[in-house]
Amino acid sequence: MRLQLQLLPRNTVISVVKREFLSGCSPNAAQGVFNCNLSNDEFVSKLLDRSWALSMPEAKIHQIKIFDRREGGLYGNISFLNNTQPHLGEGTVDKNQHLPSFYIVRDDLLHPLVNGNKARKLDALLPLLQDNFVTDVVTCGGCQSAHAAAVAVSCAERGLRSHLLLRGEEPETLTGYNLISSLYGNVIYVPRSQYARREVMLATHAESVAGSCGSVEGLSDYMEALFAKRAFGKQNVFQEDTVKFPDRKVVIVNEGAGDAVGLLGVMRLVQYLSQNHVFGRKQAIKIVVDSGTGTTAVGLGLGALCLGLPWKITAVMLADKIDGYKKAEERLISEFVRSCNSPLLTAILGNVNDGVVHWVERSIPRKFGNILEGEVQECQKIAQQTGVLLDPIYTLAAWNLATQLGQDASEDAKVVMLHTGGTLGMFGLAQRYKSYFQMLKGGVSSHL
Ligand SMILES: Cc1ncc(COP(=O)(O)O)c(C=O)c1O
Repeated sequence: MRLQLQLLPRNTVISVVKREFLSGCSPNAAQGVFNCNLSNDEFVSKLLDRSWALSMPEAKIHQIKIFDRREGGLYGNISFLNNTQPHLGEGTVDKNQHLPSFYIVRDDLLHPLVNGNKARKLDALLPLLQDNFVTDVVTCGGCQSAHAAAVAVSCAERGLRSHLLLRGEEPETLTGYNLISSLYGNVIYVPRSQYARREVMLATHAESVAGSCGSVEGLSDYMEALFAKRAFGKQNVFQEDTVKFPDRKVVIVNEGAGDAVGLLGVMRLVQYLSQNHVFGRKQAIKIVVDSGTGTTAVGLGLGALCLGLPWKITAVMLADKIDGYKKAEERLISEFVRSCNSPLLTAILGNVNDGVVHWVERSIPRKFGNILEGEVQECQKIAQQTGVLLDPIYTLAAWNLATQLGQDASEDAKVVMLHTGGTLGMFGLAQRYKSYFQMLKGGVSSHL
């Protein structure tokens, strides 16, 4: 299988991969836990053979049926119905295909406070922190950052301290993810000018948390050590450090958990979805996802590629332009390749011409964070018809694309939307866009 994806300029990821491939296969290079003789499946199984934060990779899967009563008129009147128990499994997915529809992976139901895609991105990361006796986590985000809240809650659940650097001023009323961050973690508001230099800001704060006796350690070092540890049979390579530095051990997690280790949990989800009793491995599938840092989309793409699935990942770009997403993809993949040190992975990537994600514009592009009139009511209508809550910043964008693709009769592939969560984002938006939310008071608007 060779994915036909539009993306990275040939000489970016590919040249990185070729470089890594050469170094990975050189006689002097440590090859980690992976050797050249593994099959793709064995490679992925080894890669995913680790401790996880989520006890199971499962997610509920629903099917959204689409009714378009447009009847040739100009204005669409689309309505939806949620089949909460669709037929799944290799070969049976077609039985659901009487009407235009798409499937929805309900990662929004994974945790009441942690966004679905954050739970996935933190799935491998959190055990890595615990295994390395980390005491404090420093991260950053916008005032209503779902990522900061997810880190705060997940750290508190494990007895770790979190330090959340939030951009801008403290709001008058704490609500949504900001409220959750404040309840579970240590929130520090950072002036925008300082926040603009994120790396310096994070490093400086991490140093101050560590103090003179503590240490600031790198997440990527943990990941590399994890693979090397297994390869060389060393256990707890960092335990000695803990003895030497009994005080604080601080780790910086990138904004939006945009770290290579975040890809592992998303790849675990892909492995789960590709099982015979879910979507199987033969059916062509278009996965639709909304993108901020792009990490979730890249994890999906990498998982599908490594498992040789005929799946195409279509990511709606919300926070950046195509060049930014291409760079993010390149950085994440090369970081991942470096950590795994697997010649097989570099060989698999060497066959990809155009990256692992198809990046697309939102149907109505806008400045990140802006919502348009009518979108809150659209979320209201969908919530009332299906029981699925969307937010106008992220998941409504993926829903709209999934609806469009699900209606395309010429489309052979099944359409699957990953619901990334974001429910609590609505509270922050209600504070910021008062007039749009006041419109809800009159009920569902007839023009929708
Ligand atoms: C609901 C939701 N979807 C998607 C994203 C973006 O995910 P990623 O950064 O992995 O692209 C976010 C990030 O905050 C989010 O809250």
